[in-house]
Amino acid sequence: MKILNFGSCNIDFVYSVSHIVRPGETLTAGSLSQFPGGKGLNQAIAIAKAGAPVYFAGCIGEDDTMLRQVLLQAGVDLTYLKTVKERTGQAIIQVDENGENSIFIYHGANGAVSKEQIDRVLADFEAGDILLLQNEISNLKYLIERSSDRGMKIVLNPSPFEPMLKEIDPRDLFCVILNETEAMQWSDTQHPYDFLFWAQKNYPALHVVLTLGKKGSIYLKDGKMYRQQAFKATAVDTTAAGDTFTGYFLAGLYKNAEVLQGLKMASAASAIAVSKKGAASSIPTCQEVENAIDGMELSPIDTLEEQKEVVRTFIATHIKDVKLSDVAALINYTEDHTCRWVHKNFGMGFSEFLQAERCRIAAEYLKNTDMPIHEIIELVGYNNGSFFRKVFHKYYQMSPLEYRKGKV
Ligand code: RIB
Repeated sequence: MKILNFGSCNIDFVYSVSHIVRPGETLTAGSLSQFPGGKGLNQAIAIAKAGAPVYFAGCIGEDDTMLRQVLLQAGVDLTYLKTVKERTGQAIIQVDENGENSIFIYHGANGAVSKEQIDRVLADFEAGDILLLQNEISNLKYLIERSSDRGMKIVLNPSPFEPMLKEIDPRDLFCVILNETEAMQWSDTQHPYDFLFWAQKNYPALHVVLTLGKKGSIYLKDGKMYRQQAFKATAVDTTAAGDTFTGYFLAGLYKNAEVLQGLKMASAASAIAVSKKGAASSIPTCQEVENAIDGMELSPIDTLEEQKEVVRTFIATHIKDVKLSDVAALINYTEDHTCRWVHKNFGMGFSEFLQAERCRIAAEYLKNTDMPIHEIIELVGYNNGSFFRKVFHKYYQMSPLEYRKGKV
């Protein structure tokens, strides 16, 4: 099995600023540094540094004086990197005092990836080989379709997110690695977990890795969710934290690492990357991660609170037809254990909990929308209006109409 990363390479111009510049504002940057970057390049370097062999394909300008060298030094195979008569891609990056960034990119050579180049490169790869993609090159949809035809395992990091990505058939993909914002953009919802539910329901074979910043990451695989807490880090520059995670995660897949071990290495590597300046230059080697990991502290998140949030969000998004078996599969418990877990954490049995959640959601709709009450009743899964009114009264001591009129 081979790994091919078909992606972008950029020169990153990094400006340190007190805060991200606001519309209409002019700001003086404290410093300007130039680093190798581009999601494709960063992820290829992360894979190589994590100890897996990787081919990098894409386009680079004749003006390049540093990117090839950096890739080669990291051990990336550049057989398929084409030099074109365009400027090498660029990224203008502001990094504020908290290490947060804001980026815009100029595609340049990354926009010169043609269908012919794609066909030529793919001819050297076969079924079962891994293809890693981001969204910074031209002809991405074509690339996905052709590589899927060849039976390659496509891992997509839909970043930066663009509506065009919704035209991709998730059945062509083996795995999606995305952050909270991308997940919400892709599933058109207000909560990143909705992407997990959507994927689980519609594309059960699709692996999903959702990165949640300080709240860690979730890996959804064959109907099971694996969670990894983030490691504590002092953020100097968050650029490429996601790329580092993706590269390490992929190397873990390649090496057949145990699921949780792969997630753990990816989390630790990205925590180390945020504590250093630059994109590619901040990516640690596998040895560095292994040396540091035992001394690294996990970010203090309450996993129980997180788990409760997952369940509540799932119920909210499936309120009409939620089943105990779905909730049990979601948190990886048996149905009996799930009932005991709900009782312990929410203080009531599963059916009563569902009723309470249905009323809570109905109350939200009553308060915040003009939707007719009979529609709200139907929306939360009741087909008997008078039964719903009785249940609602039990929790709110008033009728839905009174509640809407503000008698709360
Ligand atoms: O993910 C970080 C990367 O995004 C930067 O290196 C920049 O080049 C942009 O592509």
